[in-house]
This record gives sequence, C-alpha cells and structure tokens, in this order.
Amino acid sequence: MVFSPTLTSLVLALFPLASVNALRTKRTLCPDGVNTAVNPACCALFPVVQDLADNLFENECGDSAHGALRLVFHDAIGISPTLGGGGADGSIVIFNQTELENPANLGIDDILSTLSPFLFKHLDTLSAGDFVQLAGAVSLVQCPGAPRIPFFSGRAPPVAAAPTGLVPQPFDSVASILQRFGEVGFSPEEVVAVVGGSHSVAGADDIVPNMQGIPFDQTPSVFDTQIFVDVQLRGTLFTGEGGQQGEVETAVAGTVRLQSDSLLARDSSTSCAWQSFANNQSGIETAFGQAVLKLSLLGQVQSQLTDCSEVIPAAIAFTGGPATLPPGLTMNDIEQACPTAPFPTLSTQPGPATSVPPIPQADDDS
Ligand code: HEM
Ligand SMILES: *[C@@H]1O[C@H](CO)[C@@H](O)[C@H](O)[C@H]1NC(C)=O
Ligand SMILES: *[C@@H]1O[C@H](CO)[C@@H](O)[C@H](O)[C@H]1NC(C)=O
Repeated sequence: MVFSPTLTSLVLALFPLASVNALRTKRTLCPDGVNTAVNPACCALFPVVQDLADNLFENECGDSAHGALRLVFHDAIGISPTLGGGGADGSIVIFNQTELENPANLGIDDILSTLSPFLFKHLDTLSAGDFVQLAGAVSLVQCPGAPRIPFFSGRAPPVAAAPTGLVPQPFDSVASILQRFGEVGFSPEEVVAVVGGSHSVAGADDIVPNMQGIPFDQTPSVFDTQIFVDVQLRGTLFTGEGGQQGEVETAVAGTVRLQSDSLLARDSSTSCAWQSFANNQSGIETAFGQAVLKLSLLGQVQSQLTDCSEVIPAAIAFTGGPATLPPGLTMNDIEQACPTAPFPTLSTQPGPATSVPPIPQADDDS
C-alpha cells in the first residue's frame, strides 16, 4: 500500500513534535504510575505541568497565561554578544531585585508575584531557566489556536542578572527593535511573528492610566490573527501612563495599541510581513511557534539539553473563523502600509459596536 500524503500529514498532525525515532520508541510508565514517557528523565516534569495548568493558569488563556508568555521574552532576550547576559536562564526570577529596576520590565513584578511561588516550589525538580520556558510552553496550550512548542530541559542556574538595555521598549523605533533582535539572530519576519503573535494573547496593565488588562486586540483569550487587523486600523496617539508618548487609542473600543506594534505594522521594513499574518492562522501558528522556540534557546546549546517536549499537553485547536473588521468599519479603515500587496479583504462583524471587556486580573479572584 502506498503511504499516501494524506496519511503522512495525518500522522504529522497527530504527532507534530515526535521525531521518526520517537514514534518507534516505546513509552514506559513513569514512577507516578499515571504518565508514560519515551524518555524517563522527563517523568518528573509531568506533575509540574499539571500544577501549572490547574493551579497557575486554571486551564484558561487568561492573565496568568499571558504573564508567563511575556516572561519567556523578558528572560530570554537578556543576552547580547557585546554586553553578555545568560538569555533564557531564569535570571529575571532569581535576580529579580536587579532586573526589575530595568524600566523595560515594567509590570513584570506582578507576573513574578503570581508565578514565582510555583517556581520556588518546583526548584528541586527543574532550574529557574527551565521553569520559565516550561511555563511559557504550557501557557500556550491554554490558548485556543496557539502552537504547541517543543520544550528542552537542562538549563544551568543563572549566574547573574541580565545587563539593562536589552529588552525592547514600546516607544523604541523599528530600526532599534530590529537591531536588538537581530543581534540574537532574529530576522525582521521572525520579529513580526513573535511580537505580533504574542500580543494576540495580551494586554496592558501599565499603559492606560488607572486601567488594567486592556487588550491589544478584540480576542485576548484566543491566539488568532485579529491583532494584525486591529493594529492596522487607523488610530490616534495619546500619552500613556508615566508620560510616555506614543500609545494609540484604536478604532476598537476597549483596546489599546503599543506604538511599537503600530510601527511594526507600518514601517517599510516590516509592514508586508505584518500584513502577511492577517487572516493567516496557520502561517502565524508556524512562524510564531518557531520564533518562541528560538527565544527559549537563547544562551543555551540545544544539543546539551534533553528533549522533554512529550510533557507538553496537546494544543487547543483554533475553531474561530476568519479575521473580521469591527462593526461599522470597512476596508477603508485599514491603513494600508505594505506597498506590494493589498491587505486581505475582510468582512465586517454584524451588529452595533461593543467595547472589548478588560482581561480579568490574576489577583482579582484571590
Ligand atoms: C518589540 C518588542 C516588544 C515590546 C516593546 C513589548 C512591550 C509590551 C508592553 C509595554 C506590554 C504591556 C505591559 C504592561 O502594561 O504591563 C506587553 C505585554 C505583553 N507582551 Fe510584549 N512586547 C514586545 C515583545 C513581546 C514578545 C516577543 C512576547 C512573547 C514572546 C511578548 C509577550 C507579551 C504578553 C503575553 C503581554 C501581556 C502580558 C499580560 O497581559 O500580563 N511581548 N508587551
Ligand atoms: C526575588 O528573588 C529572591 C532571591 O532569589 C527570592 O527570594 C524572591 O522570592 C524573589 N521574588 C519574586 C517575586 O520572585
Ligand atoms: C502566511 O504565513 C506564512 C508563514 O510566514 C507565509 O509563508 C505565507 O506567505 C503567508 N500567507 C500569505 C497569504 O501572506
């Protein structure tokens, strides 16, 4: 019988992370008597994953999951060929007193206060660097439409705080953002995928005066491409909290836009990449998944780590429809920036415009 492409893609869809070898390898029962693993060295991580999913994220793509994803970035990007730093090493948690003084880490204190108790509880099982990346990978599978990314274990404990100046800020220019990411090996397309994709499941606690959990797009609990549409709509600048110029009030009531996202959507070096993800669910899932994996390995040597991807639960499939324009808007409200291709044609949501509700905060329900 011919091994048809359909069957091949079915197998790949069912086991996206399994290598051919892993498919051939037997799973053995872990000491907990419940889970099975191809690599017994990964067994100890199952209870950590369960604890995170049930008790930190509460099986939701909410504030804690968003925070864990943001932490992946703020820890990992702390490395530079000239200034040093350990990258994805957990330094942001262990050396929090130093790293939280960095203004680019505004808001990370709230994330750490929710997440760190779990890290310290499990520090005899995995390092701080592993924990931050594991939590990020588990956070993604709380969000419908987000990719399940591989997880590698074995990062050494951090030795020092990351130098300041390495985390991009929302009022940085596109050139400076691309330069910073470029130093650690990210192409402009990868930057657009990782920044835009992550901000699909995100919001601001420290930008809009006196308001928390203000979403960046209409659907902060779903990893979709609506962010690439909402950010391309025309908007008006306002002065954010702390007097920082350049945040944008959008045509979508209840949402806010970072100047950096707005510029990535409009700058000639990134606008076509930005537009390429609008209404391109499978494209963003793949490109974002690869870019987050790359972040998770900054400062690390993949061949010296253990592939424990098997402990990451299945992704939640995207069941939403195409990206849409908010009620009352038309394609004329899209601020077309890419000069070489038109923005994908979208339909308008029916009904009167409603305001997007804030994201409930992790500490609200305690
Ligand atoms: C140019 C690069 C980036 C800039 C300037 C930036 C900036 C920001 C800012 C200012 C906030 C709001 C923080 C607050 O108000 O408390 C935010 C939220 C967030 N960012 Fe980014 N970001 C960038 C890239 C990334 C990347 C690469 C990721 C993850 C891979 C990420 C994930 C998130 C998430 C998940 C949130 C929401 C956090 C929450 O709701 O608690 N960001 N970002
Ligand atoms: C900050 O770091 C110290 C020392 O590592 C630790 O004891 C404390 O719990 C950390 N705080 C948070 C919020 O992570
Ligand atoms: C969708 O995204 C993928 C991955 O970046 C890209 O290769 C493809 O060209 C995109 N599709 C469109 C229509 O832009």
